Amino acid sequence: MYISGIGRTKFGKLDMTLHEMMVESVQKALDDSKTDLKNIDAIFVSNNLSGLNQGQLHLNSLLATILKLDIPIIRVESTCASGGVTFYNSLFSLSKFDNILVLGVEKMSALSSKELSTNIGTTSDKKLDQKQGFIFPAGAAMIIERYEKKFGNVMDELALISLKNHNNGNLNKNAHFFGKEVNLEKIKNSKKLVGKLRLYDCSPVSDGSVSIVVSKNKKDKRSVKIKSCEMSTGPISLSLNPGTSMPAVKKAAKRALDAADMKITDIDVIEIHDGYTIVELITMEDLGLCKPGKAPGMIRKGKTKLKGAIPVNTDGGLKANGHPIGATGLAQIYELVTQIRGEAGKRQVKAKTGLAHNIGGMVGSCVVTVLEGN
Ligand code: COA
Repeated sequence: MYISGIGRTKFGKLDMTLHEMMVESVQKALDDSKTDLKNIDAIFVSNNLSGLNQGQLHLNSLLATILKLDIPIIRVESTCASGGVTFYNSLFSLSKFDNILVLGVEKMSALSSKELSTNIGTTSDKKLDQKQGFIFPAGAAMIIERYEKKFGNVMDELALISLKNHNNGNLNKNAHFFGKEVNLEKIKNSKKLVGKLRLYDCSPVSDGSVSIVVSKNKKDKRSVKIKSCEMSTGPISLSLNPGTSMPAVKKAAKRALDAADMKITDIDVIEIHDGYTIVELITMEDLGLCKPGKAPGMIRKGKTKLKGAIPVNTDGGLKANGHPIGATGLAQIYELVTQIRGEAGKRQVKAKTGLAHNIGGMVGSCVVTVLEGN
């Protein structure tokens, strides 16, 4: 299985409808793959919030209307892991089809903070979390508290993660925060949202769309091989998160690396789902980049920077590239393909292999994908 084309919109507060964003990313991916729409056998659509945010469900049929198609189009939802779970699902269809398109889209910016938090909150457990008003930033603050209790202070290292990702995002013209000047002082002095969690520890509210063309056979030398794509699920309630490690992440990563017949040390570049900076830090440990409690040391030594031993979130991650929920998991794949092809410009790292980690909740769904170039 190969990725033969990628396309995306810019991420951020966009003056574009769901419809316009989908059309732009689809057209760009088809152009990149040099594939005509008539050669696409099926489409898989990733989206989380359009029912609540725009009052528009049935995006698969909407897309059929827009693109004048009658092929199978299937919509998948799995909160922030929607992109990864859609990609995972889509690959099974290659036993039947030759070329498929995987599309992610989300429109978040037109809502008030309160409305959006309520809508995002519906992805957590209704009885245990929503009833208590327990939302994701509070979950992230809770993990910071637990991590610090176990391993010591970590806020300086979280600021370094935020700075790294903003610096990388400033090399990515499609990133939500491209062009925004950010320094350590700004990060450390940013407003506290809950507990120790600062504004600059959070991903922003973004709009955007990404499309990926996947083919059964290798098309040309820009095609990137899908070595593996594996998934694990876990409890939905944030209150059932055991603390400083996420079991579903460990399981999905082990399954994906085993299926690719690789070790984490064989990976050249990683996209981590840094919805919150603390998630990037604990995921470094869950992926086996270091032992529990050792990620802060790796961060201080700059090991995950562009020039470090294992670059993480070269596109700016969710923190600076942005987090249009339904498109995020596919944006990670877009970045790995760009790096592996050697087309990442100023943020290019040496990469033959790449790994994407996409999670929903903390952590109810996790998909880990391993890609390899020629
Ligand atoms: N990081 C850095 N700066 C941010 C930011 C973020 N995450 N979110 C907003 N800003 C900046 C804006 O760019 C704006 O800057 P400016 O004044 O220089 O233009 C300023 O903060 C105010 O923006 P606004 O949109 O009013 O922010 P807000 O206070 O309404 O929202 C959050 C901030 C953190 C609450 C919001 O970004 C959020 O909810 N993020 C999490 C989204 C989420 O839950 N995703 C899914 C789960 S991972």
